[in-house]
Amino acid sequence: MKNCLRQAKISATGMYVPDHRLSNVDLEKTVDTSDQWIRSRTGIVERRIVANGQACSHLAVEALRRALELRGLAATDLDLIIVATVTPDMFFPSTACLIQERIGATKAWGFDLSAACSGFLYALSTGAQFIQTGTHRRVAVIGADVMTSILDFKDRATCVLFGDGAGAVLLEPAEAGEEGIIDCLLRSDGAGGRYLNMPGGGSLHPASAETVAQNMHCVHQDGAQVFKFAIRGMADISSELLKKWNYSVDDLALYVPHQANIRIIDAAAERLGLDRSKVAINIDRYANTTAATIPICLAEAQADQRVKKGDLVMLASFGAGFTWGSILLRWTM
Ligand code: UT7
Repeated sequence: MKNCLRQAKISATGMYVPDHRLSNVDLEKTVDTSDQWIRSRTGIVERRIVANGQACSHLAVEALRRALELRGLAATDLDLIIVATVTPDMFFPSTACLIQERIGATKAWGFDLSAACSGFLYALSTGAQFIQTGTHRRVAVIGADVMTSILDFKDRATCVLFGDGAGAVLLEPAEAGEEGIIDCLLRSDGAGGRYLNMPGGGSLHPASAETVAQNMHCVHQDGAQVFKFAIRGMADISSELLKKWNYSVDDLALYVPHQANIRIIDAAAERLGLDRSKVAINIDRYANTTAATIPICLAEAQADQRVKKGDLVMLASFGAGFTWGSILLRWTM
């Protein structure tokens, strides 16, 4: 990205989570689990869940509206909307098109991108390139998921882990002398696909009474396998990116990892040699919102003034695919 004409920068953030809280104690009443197990094994205390009829695009529109408001822009100022999600309102039209219509972004085009928990990083990297080439000036990048729409609430191994939410950022060209998004390292390894997936509903296993009976429209996960790969995946790619730019963890003001499990976050930070005080953590309040965890953390960090202009920030994710990656950026707000 060093030789590109124009760096992209994040110029605003926004987030939205549904009002309804589902606590571990609530879950104890419906599935064989305990608040103590969930807290100690995952760090989750509660998660937000959508109201009936509330879908991915509804959460996304609210998050994007807040980002636009913060930046003082209208929806008509947007050129492009990229939505990372594995729980679109429907297969087609894309959630990006639904958002475009609802928010009134009449001059924007858009598309959805599927990379599960790494979706936001893949989308941010993609959006940044539309700015860098100079063809687009205002790109909305959204991570939004309604994970409760694909959970089996009788499966204690998965239903306690996830929640619903959306986060959005705006990308614009950096001013002269501003760094913005410095670099992105993204990876995938399809061999990991067997450990975390939703097998039903696609062209391989179209929806039928049988796929429903076999629970194929829900998240299936071999948690222990994903756990092992996630720690190494996030920590090592972050190290590689820091080394590439001659930075050390001491240069980072904030590390924003995907929020899947507090033990993964802590172990990755330890492997990196990073102090916990520099790590963004909100898994206790929202659980794993898949593509939304990182932009929600960014919006909270901005609202809490935990990041300031000039800070070096690193994002890291790991998820189904397997997909993983890390992005290094300079905060410019
Ligand atoms: O964001 C996408 C990427 N996803 C991830 O990064 C998730 C990665 N994996 C994890 O976070 C963890 O593996 C889990 C939180 C999913 C599970 O934690 P674990 O320490 O790996 O537990 P486990 O799966 O090895 O299960 C330990 C025990 C089992 O009982 P037995 O066989 O030892 O008797 C499970 O049946 O805990 C049991 N268990 C539960 N008990 C109470 C599993 N889920 C629950 C539950 N409540 N909800």
